[in-house]
Amino acid sequence: MKTKIKILKKLPVMKNHHSELLIYDQYLMKIPLIKKWIETFPSRYAVKSGEKLKSIDQLPSHLEHLIKNFSFAQKIYILGGGSVGDFGGFVASIFKRGIPVVQIPTTWLSALDSAHGGKTAMNVGGFKNQIGTYHFSEEVWVIQAVLETQPAIRLFEASGEFMKTAIIGGESLLKKLQSWNWKAGKIRWSDLKSFIELKYKIVKQDPFEKKGFRYQLNLGHTLGHVWEAHFGIPHGLAIFHGLLFDIAWSVQLKLLSPQRAFDLMDEMPWSYVWDEEFKKKTDLKIYSLTEAKIRSYLIKDKKNKQGLISFTLVEKPGKVLIKKVPMEDILREYRRQQRTLQELYEEL
Ligand SMILES: NC(=O)c1ccc[n+]([C@@H]2O[C@H](COP(=O)([O-])OP(=O)(O)OC[C@H]3O[C@@H](n4cnc5c(N)ncnc54)[C@H](O)[C@@H]3O)[C@@H](O)[C@H]2O)c1
Ligand SMILES: [Zn+2]
Repeated sequence: MKTKIKILKKLPVMKNHHSELLIYDQYLMKIPLIKKWIETFPSRYAVKSGEKLKSIDQLPSHLEHLIKNFSFAQKIYILGGGSVGDFGGFVASIFKRGIPVVQIPTTWLSALDSAHGGKTAMNVGGFKNQIGTYHFSEEVWVIQAVLETQPAIRLFEASGEFMKTAIIGGESLLKKLQSWNWKAGKIRWSDLKSFIELKYKIVKQDPFEKKGFRYQLNLGHTLGHVWEAHFGIPHGLAIFHGLLFDIAWSVQLKLLSPQRAFDLMDEMPWSYVWDEEFKKKTDLKIYSLTEAKIRSYLIKDKKNKQGLISFTLVEKPGKVLIKKVPMEDILREYRRQQRTLQELYEEL
């Protein structure tokens, strides 16, 4: 796994890129600066971002078009958010048995997380990320001028993923989060690098998720993925709720002290990000899911091996641990948290 990360101010001028194909989010044509750059590619393929793009049903028609028109391509540049990155990465990994990729993430979520680490993913029958490959990018270009074109909502949608990284990383990352202007959707650009580096530090030690070490990055993701898939909530927001679940369970299991959990909540910028009313509405919605439904998703969880799910819990900022837990324990904890929330909101 050798990926070169380039942190750049602007989109670079492309030269001799006739044998290279650009797969890009068609939405980006609305942004003049990016449109101009896209148009310098002689070979390009526009896609509509979102979960439908990752649906395996549509893959044959994309492949047919790509093979008919671009079979000469020797490298694929992927410009877009996480859905385009997952789709493009998967295509590149099977196109002529695999060709190199350069990822150019355009959302905070992809710049921080999904463009790094080599995982590609496709959805099957409404279940997320059931098919995929490991296809490590040759390069990832993280470009300030591109990422700063995003509206504030995109940072809000990535918030859970930033908080997850900070909890795994520890106090110094948590402090950075607090100094950003969340309401305006602005991060401190120079901070981004240390968040990305944390992901590589973990991925490098377990690139193919064989040792379980990489499971650390799944903090917030077990319940988060269920809510994301079922309600179509943006990934980073679903993960935010998944984090709250994991923190509460860590307290319940006496791994994390209530005081530490309280301090951690205080350190996370969630109060800047979330409006109380919106949080209440989301809580009531996601916890309305029946246990049977949750079970149907957990059975499909890739971390589920013979009924035991590798679950990531928190001991303190900077220290998470992986515990193999029976699915029934997760469901029991879900019921407990469901009751607690209902009581809390009834009191208010
Ligand atoms: N492979 C991995 O390791 C990994 C990790 C985390 C998430 N993911 C996947 O990533 C996806 C979510 O990522 P995402 O939120 O980036 O999704 P996305 O690609 O759907 O982008 C979200 C929205 O942002 C828009 N957008 C893209 N660039 C923009 C820009 N510069 N300015 C304004 N709007 C812009 C898109 O058009 C889209 O409407 C999910 O499918 C998730 O499963 C993958
Ligand atoms: Zn994630």
